[in-house]
Amino acid sequence: MKLNADLKLPLRFQKKSGMKIALIGYGKMGKAIEQSIIQQGKHEVVLKISIDNLNDLTVENLKKADVAIEFTSPESAVKNMLLCLKAAVPVVCGSTGWLGKFENVKKEFENNKGAMVFASNFSIGVNLFFAINNYAASLFKKHPQYEVLMSEIHHTEKKDAPSGTAISIKKIIEQHISSQAIPIEALRIENVVGTHNVLFKSAVDEVELIHKAHSRSGFAEGAVLAAEWIADKKGVYEFKDVLGIE
Ligand SMILES: NC(=O)c1ccc[n+]([C@@H]2O[C@H](COP(=O)([O-])OP(=O)(O)OC[C@H]3O[C@@H](n4cnc5c(N)ncnc54)[C@H](OP(=O)(O)O)[C@@H]3O)[C@@H](O)[C@H]2O)c1
Repeated sequence: MKLNADLKLPLRFQKKSGMKIALIGYGKMGKAIEQSIIQQGKHEVVLKISIDNLNDLTVENLKKADVAIEFTSPESAVKNMLLCLKAAVPVVCGSTGWLGKFENVKKEFENNKGAMVFASNFSIGVNLFFAINNYAASLFKKHPQYEVLMSEIHHTEKKDAPSGTAISIKKIIEQHISSQAIPIEALRIENVVGTHNVLFKSAVDEVELIHKAHSRSGFAEGAVLAAEWIADKKGVYEFKDVLGIE
């Protein structure tokens, strides 16, 4: 792996600086992302859209940004992304609950030479968890006596259930194990940032894989990393492309 002599970081993780960022959505995640940007001290937030200033979300204002980061709601995510496309501003989308429209949105971005990174989860740990589940499922598929059971826990304000992350994990496992319907239990408990649990269970034993997010900072830092990565690209990507995970 090639290292930069000063930073001691792999070249592909060297960060851009001085980007102008539009934040679309200023709830729990929008605020965590703003904090991450302030702490890193490399970029500037030039537009901040909350439910109180929706009139400011215009093509003209978006054009002032190098990149937009969108964390709003299942209902508004697609509309907001298409507005970024119209403004020719690359967008990082973390909103969940709109995956049913993903293929249409992807086509729209590809046909119009737009740039987008989507992830149901921008935590580096979760994306490694995806890869671990992919490997586990490739092993368990040869042993059909194991059934797969999933559960996820989030805070009580989360609007979609099951979580986008749980749906992503389920799809990864189903690429290997298609013989059973994998159930996902979705629990909502106050102040839980996000827990995902995958159980491979037989009559004689079980293997359990768990990821627990302790704070929103992991998602926020991942979203800013994705913004730096997508700023000078065209196309539709996932976070694993940013991280270089196969
Ligand atoms: N990909 C990831 O890593 C990741 C991590 C955490 C969360 N998420 C997802 O990101 C989204 C936001 O999560 P959150 O925890 O920040 O939720 P939140 O605290 O409810 O924040 C969402 C904010 O967006 C506002 N909003 C709604 N419609 C809008 C619009 N059209 N334009 C601009 N703002 C709008 C909401 O206002 P009101 O409250 O007034 O409706 C709210 O302030 C959810 O879909 C969540 O599942 C993704």
